[in-house]
Amino acid sequence: MIQTDISKPLITVVGAASKQGRSVAGALLDSGRYRVRALTRRRDSQPAQDLARRGAEVLVVPLMPGMQVELSAAMRGSAGAFLMTPPIAKVPPEEPELILGQELANAAVSAGVEHVVFSGLENVEARTGGTKWAPHFTDKAKVEAYIRSLPIRSSFVYPAFFYTNILEYYVPQRGADGLTFAIYLPPHVPNPFCDPLTATGPAVREMFDHPTQYAGQSLPVIGEVLTAQDMVDTFVRVTGQRAHYASAYGREDLLRHFPNFGADEHFVRELVGMVEYAVEYGYYAPDRDLTWSRKIDPHAMTWEQFLKRSNWQGELQTFGAAPELVPT
Ligand SMILES: NC(=O)c1ccc[n+]([C@@H]2O[C@H](COP(=O)([O-])OP(=O)(O)OC[C@H]3O[C@@H](n4cnc5c(N)ncnc54)[C@H](OP(=O)(O)O)[C@@H]3O)[C@@H](O)[C@H]2O)c1
Repeated sequence: MIQTDISKPLITVVGAASKQGRSVAGALLDSGRYRVRALTRRRDSQPAQDLARRGAEVLVVPLMPGMQVELSAAMRGSAGAFLMTPPIAKVPPEEPELILGQELANAAVSAGVEHVVFSGLENVEARTGGTKWAPHFTDKAKVEAYIRSLPIRSSFVYPAFFYTNILEYYVPQRGADGLTFAIYLPPHVPNPFCDPLTATGPAVREMFDHPTQYAGQSLPVIGEVLTAQDMVDTFVRVTGQRAHYASAYGREDLLRHFPNFGADEHFVRELVGMVEYAVEYGYYAPDRDLTWSRKIDPHAMTWEQFLKRSNWQGELQTFGAAPELVPT
């Protein structure tokens, strides 16, 4: 049943069926302090139905450029909005993610929303002097800069790499000598990871709970910093299965393990650019607070806890997202 206590602030969650979106919507509903309006393309998807059952008001509004009027109408009456952009294929010179992000922000302003939390990432173009191409990072940073120029309170979360990428997109292959984890990172370089389904919500809720404190802040969301080899070793320890790491780092190794990616040159460039950026420059800029998300959410899952909780054994898993998604 839809939550009707209008004394509770209403938060609109765009992309509410996404992993991040449903985490945010769920965390807000669980707190009992907010009403949630969940925007999705498909009212009949499992995540949308689950949110409706938990009390969210579900509205059908596609998360794509050109929908600013509809998005604004959908946000009306909201005190806050969680804004995110879905994986969108980038074919230069088009910048669909930047346009969508700007339209989401414009929609929030014209709807009279007081506080937006945007799911952003670092500006790879700026940090690398334009030597690495990762538009799904840089365009988010440009959206952030745009939001900061608007007359609206804003806060930003920067999610780490998702643990779920390995379950959803880069699934290990089973062979005679066990599972081969072809990972796009080198074996021994630590990188930040998180579970988007459980880590995003507490971080975003914390920002809506303390809007003045978090005004203008950009904060990483991290479950654990670990290497690709650590991930495989932990999988072996937790599941008891045989498994080994294989390098999918760099174009050649990536295409050897995922030859079908070769059909989309822009996607390969973007993926290789992102990974080289993370390895050579660090996923996060040096001045970011890497401790914040664990302080406000001590239960944020490590990879080991994620494996134990999910009981994942190495098989392909989907999370109810649209099948046409580009895996970055
Ligand atoms: N993977 C990572 O390691 C990582 C790390 C940090 C940040 N990110 C960023 O996280 C974002 C993705 O978040 P997520 O993984 O939580 O999303 P997700 O689970 O893949 O879900 C995306 C959702 O967006 C909605 N959507 C609307 N229009 C879409 C379109 N044209 N194509 C695809 N989906 C569309 C779909 O919901 P409906 O069908 O209900 O509309 C879909 O469920 C991306 O911007 C990515 O860059 C990813």
